[in-house]
Amino acid sequence: MPACPIRPRRTDGAKLPERARVKAARLFILLAATIAVAAPAVAAAPQVGDAAAKAKAAVCAACHGAGGLSQVPNIPSLAGEPDQFLEWQMVLFRSGAREDPLMSPIAQTLSDDDVQVLGRYFAALKPPKPPAGKLDPSLMAAGVSVMQKYNCASCHGDNFAGEGEAARLASQHEEYLAKALQDFKSGARRGAGAAGAMSGVAFGMTGPEIKAAAYYLSHHP
Ligand code: HEC
Ligand code: HEC
Repeated sequence: MPACPIRPRRTDGAKLPERARVKAARLFILLAATIAVAAPAVAAAPQVGDAAAKAKAAVCAACHGAGGLSQVPNIPSLAGEPDQFLEWQMVLFRSGAREDPLMSPIAQTLSDDDVQVLGRYFAALKPPKPPAGKLDPSLMAAGVSVMQKYNCASCHGDNFAGEGEAARLASQHEEYLAKALQDFKSGARRGAGAAGAMSGVAFGMTGPEIKAAAYYLSHHP
């Protein structure tokens, strides 16, 4: 493993808008301590089966949360995502086709074997639950209309639990979902699925549609 897997390369930082850089930097300071503790587990001698998967996943918990359930609004939960989706995204980050100042350096430390083991591991964990609290009925209704207009369930599954290379969306963080859609719309994230299917969908979405979709899906059990 390279000396410091969590430090973004300077070129990555240079491409980011100032606000994103500041945000990322703040998160780094928060996470550095946790990762320093978690990292040795990954560097440990090869093991077999579940124990090996757990050891590899220890470094991920610093950002993606214990049990793959993220506690950070703009970091996705991984638990219960489809195996194929998870593996694809790790490979996309590793190749540079998908970029993020926090995630890209981590992905570069993953072998093909790591990708497979981690994909299987997180896919088998219990998915997140929607946040407690009263729902906004008008935003929920607007969300339903967006789901119908763009046929989101046709790829993401009737319960938005994800299918194959299409992500699980149900109970994912609202802020992260909105960011992901915005990234597809702007072209910052191209996606690999079905020849970049998501870019085509998101390109046509308006700001209020993205807001409603993120709200609806994050509250979908
Ligand atoms: C330093 C923080 C950090 C660590 C540690 C980290 N990640 Fe990430 N990861 C992120 C962020 C941030 C994103 C979302 C990037 C974006 O907004 O596009 C992400 C996204 C992902 C995604 C895409 C999920 C989706 O729903 O699109 C996968 C898969 C992933 N990480 C796997 C892992 C694995 C496996 C590990 C451990 C080996 C790991 N990550 C460690 C920060 C981290
Ligand atoms: C034609 C198939 C298809 C349709 C329709 C579709 N998606 Fe997707 N979506 C995908 C695939 C495949 C991915 C995985 C990203 C990639 O391509 O790398 C994805 C990824 C996403 C992500 C990123 C999730 C993550 O964890 O990173 C979000 C959010 C999303 N879709 C929301 C939606 C919404 C909302 C709709 C409807 C407005 C929709 N999708 C319609 C195929 C589709």
